[in-house]
Order: sequence, then C-alpha cells, then structure tokens
Amino acid sequence: MEPSKSAAPADQAVTASGAQVLEFVQHVALKTWTNDFNQVLAVYVLRAPAVTGARHPTEGKMDHFSSDIAFTPAVKDVQSRRGSRGIYEKVEARGGFRTAITEDLAGFLAAIDTAYLATASAGGQPYAQHRGGPKGFIRVIDERTIGFADFAGNRQYISTGNLAENSKAFLFLMDYANRRRIKLWGRARIVEGDAALLARLMPDYAARPEQAILFEVDAWDANCPQHIPQKFDAADVAVAITRLEQRIATLEAENSRLQQQVSAERNPA
Ligand SMILES: Cc1cc2nc3c(=O)[nH]c(=O)nc-3n(C[C@H](O)[C@H](O)[C@H](O)COP(=O)(O)O)c2cc1C
Repeated sequence: MEPSKSAAPADQAVTASGAQVLEFVQHVALKTWTNDFNQVLAVYVLRAPAVTGARHPTEGKMDHFSSDIAFTPAVKDVQSRRGSRGIYEKVEARGGFRTAITEDLAGFLAAIDTAYLATASAGGQPYAQHRGGPKGFIRVIDERTIGFADFAGNRQYISTGNLAENSKAFLFLMDYANRRRIKLWGRARIVEGDAALLARLMPDYAARPEQAILFEVDAWDANCPQHIPQKFDAADVAVAITRLEQRIATLEAENSRLQQQVSAERNPA
C-alpha cells in the first residue's frame, strides 16, 4: 500500500511557505512511514505462518491454539462459510497468534501514545475506554506482562469494576502516524497501593496516577495498515514547522542580502 503522495489537493491554493511546510512534513512522514512500514512487515513476516501444510497433532481440539481466543467455534464457522478458514488453518498450523512479548512488540509499545482498553462485566457487557500518555507509557514488565499507570479520571470506574469481576481484557494499540495497529488479548488486573510498581510505570507526565493496571498477554496479532487514516501528533508537526520556519527565515535573509547585492551592482553609486 502506497502512502498518499499529496498532502493537499492539487487545486488547493497554498502559499509558498505553506507548500514548503506541507512538503517538509510530508517528507518527514514518508521517511517515518517507510521505516515503520518495514517494521510492520517484519512483524507480519515473523508472525506469519509458513505454508507447510503441517497439521498440529491436537488440531481440532477446543482451545488449543492461541488464536482460539478469538477464533471461537462461531468465528470459525463464519470463516468456513465465507471461504477464509483455510488461511487461518495455516496460521493455526504454526501455533496460532503470538503469545510472548517480542522485541517488535516492545518497540511498538515504546513508540505509541494511544491505546483502547476493552473489558466486560461478568454478564458480558463490553466496554472500551481510551488510555493515553506520552509515548512509551505502556511498559513491558516481563515476557508475558505489560503494565501502565492508570490516571485519575471521572471516577466512574467502569474498567476497574469490570476487571474486579471479569479479568478478560483486550488492548487495541494505535499508531496513527505510522498507520499501525496491534491487538492483544489477555487478562488484566488492577493493583492498588503498590508505590514501587506505580513509580516504575509512571511516565514523566502531568497526571495523578491512581493505580496500576497489569495486563498479561494471552495472544497478540497485527493488523494491516489498510483504512487507518494517517494522523500526526501536533507536537511532532510543531517541531517540523519550527525547523521549516527557521529555514525559511535563513533563506529570506539570504534572498534579501542577494537582492541588495544585485541592486548595488546594477546601480553603482
Ligand atoms: C476531570 C475528568 C473528567 C472526565 N470525564 C470523562 C467522561 O465524562 N467520560 C469519559 O468517558 N471519560 C472521562 N474522563 C476520562 C476517564 O476518566 C479516564 O479515561 C478513565 O481512565 C476512564 O476510566 P474507565 O476506563 O473506568 O471508564 C475524564 C477524565 C477527567 C480527568
């Protein structure tokens, strides 16, 4: 998939400096996108099952593959009816989704500032809530566990209450700038009153940490970048624009100096 080559419609009037801002931001974005797309591909290739045709010895038994956490019998039935079951049988032949936190995943976590945490009540009522912070606010604790400081908020405590009665949880990790997303299934728990853990998880960020959330990963998978609208951090864009403005100021000063020089040469005193 090609990133958009144009940051503004062709017929849209842009000033010279505006065009340069767009070009510069686009250049930075393209470079980042290219680097990170390679990473995404690496995640895919590393994760993707080889087409060996091998059958796992216990294939067919319930809850054997890590991907069964998502591929329930009902899901598999739909896949069969719609013709994609064969593709995912190949994933299963290699053991299903990943379960350990790899370097790829740790690198992804270090780069993101946005996640959506899904929980459900004991009765199965789903709920999703945004979690955000500075990049890297979700930290790797060990090979199977990630955690983050839960900041004080509106005190509805829906996620906290849900986790008290149902530890099943899901994290959807978004990287809009680089058009990447990763989904993790697992079990989460709230840790209250553990100052050392909170200190370990709390980023340098203006928020009051209320508790820690530890998420034990059961399975994770990456989605392709299709249909992810590309969005940039305002702070990253501001840095790019500041650099561009400084460059424009330098060029304007040089232009002015050269104009004066030409004028002096054309009109000697
Ligand atoms: C003062 C304040 C008010 C907030 N109001 C809301 C709100 O009305 N609705 C909401 O979904 N989140 C709101 N938030 C954000 C949530 O409180 C925060 O995301 C919290 O972690 C959600 O907890 P939960 O996952 O248990 O819902 C607010 C945050 C603050 C600091």
